[in-house]
Amino acid sequence: MKTTTEKFGATPHQPSLWTRADALKVRADDPTTTQPLVRADFPVLSNDVFIWDTMPLRDLDGNVTSVDGWSVIFTLTADRHPNDPQYLDEDGNYDILRDWNDRHGRAKMYYWFSRTGKNWELGGRVMAEGVSPTAREWAGTPILLNDRGEVDLYYTAVTPGATIVKVRGRVVTTEHGVSMVGFEKVKPLFEADGKMYQTEAQNAFWGFRDPWPFRDPNDGKLYMLFEGNVAGERGSHKVGEAEIGDVPPGYEDVGNSRFQTACVGIAVARDADGDDWEMLPPLLTAVGVNDQTERPHFVFQDGKYYLFTISHTFTYGDGVTGPDGVYGFVADSLFGPYVPLNGSGLVLGNPSSQPFQTYSHYVMPNGLVTSFIDSVPTDATGTQIRVGGTEAPTVGMKIKGQQTFVVAEYDYGYIPPMLDVTLK
Ligand code: FRU
Repeated sequence: MKTTTEKFGATPHQPSLWTRADALKVRADDPTTTQPLVRADFPVLSNDVFIWDTMPLRDLDGNVTSVDGWSVIFTLTADRHPNDPQYLDEDGNYDILRDWNDRHGRAKMYYWFSRTGKNWELGGRVMAEGVSPTAREWAGTPILLNDRGEVDLYYTAVTPGATIVKVRGRVVTTEHGVSMVGFEKVKPLFEADGKMYQTEAQNAFWGFRDPWPFRDPNDGKLYMLFEGNVAGERGSHKVGEAEIGDVPPGYEDVGNSRFQTACVGIAVARDADGDDWEMLPPLLTAVGVNDQTERPHFVFQDGKYYLFTISHTFTYGDGVTGPDGVYGFVADSLFGPYVPLNGSGLVLGNPSSQPFQTYSHYVMPNGLVTSFIDSVPTDATGTQIRVGGTEAPTVGMKIKGQQTFVVAEYDYGYIPPMLDVTLK
């Protein structure tokens, strides 16, 4: 077999492994890696729409950027249906949980703006109906390209298939608010290849999504992270010594964890504009550990590459577990080797008393972590819940070497700019 060095002269890397031994170190409810309890009396951004994945406008270096003093976020968004007969239960009451759980099938990109980095005002839908080629507009990244206000929105066009695409538009400001113009022509970039990244034909539960383009602070080239699964027919993956890692006696049994095959993918642009991409082998794989490493993103700090990705309890393999939340890995160079932060990889998880309180954490270079509220229990037994679909309180975190520490909590949806660009 050819090594990746022979196949990819410019990127001689082997994927780093998140092993079962690493995951055995996950400790739920460690206060340094646990999100403070979200109260059930949270405010909602909107009574008309649910929002979940939040994508702050940023530059290619990762800095959250405001324009003419306006902060801008993009969100995955779906209408709420409190009066739709389809979402009434037997007693005629609105079944908000069912409405919320169905949201992925009708996800659309919306944008919001604010003068204060919180209390977001709804701007509207980014692309008009019919512009996006698929039913679902799934997560991605809005990039402010220049001081003319040009924005490249990278996102995932899902159903049918899953294609990483981009659409270019422009942000326009007035003293009263922000609008997004253009965003009329969606350009497909690439899809899973079946050789490095699993395809739908290989596994009906495949994941291929969540583009996060960036400029490498060292080589200056344009790359993109994304979520994938390791190529191969479902059930054919091997959980061997490397994937198991150094486990104590009695922990060798991997159960059915061959079905868990998440990876963090990477692609390199062949052109300066990011219209032509080449997929490279994954940066990180989690075979035998977890089936989803979603919304991967970087923080570049102290000359290191901090790779963050979100994951769930339900996507862990047999014999390993951890909370819903954000996990992290660190390396001295882009292609690794990556080691799990805090020993285990867990960076910020939900408390076990409120396992679904938040999700889709996004770590910003200033150490602030935004996420959305999923559901919060309203009684002691946890049988009654309140559905969120809104911004969670922002958490402040310190990143030091191979460790992270929760140090602060801020207001709901607090996403302050790190840079302001004055548009010409
Ligand atoms: C994370 C996520 C993303 C995906 C979107 C779909 O919350 O699962 O990976 O793009 O939500 O709604």
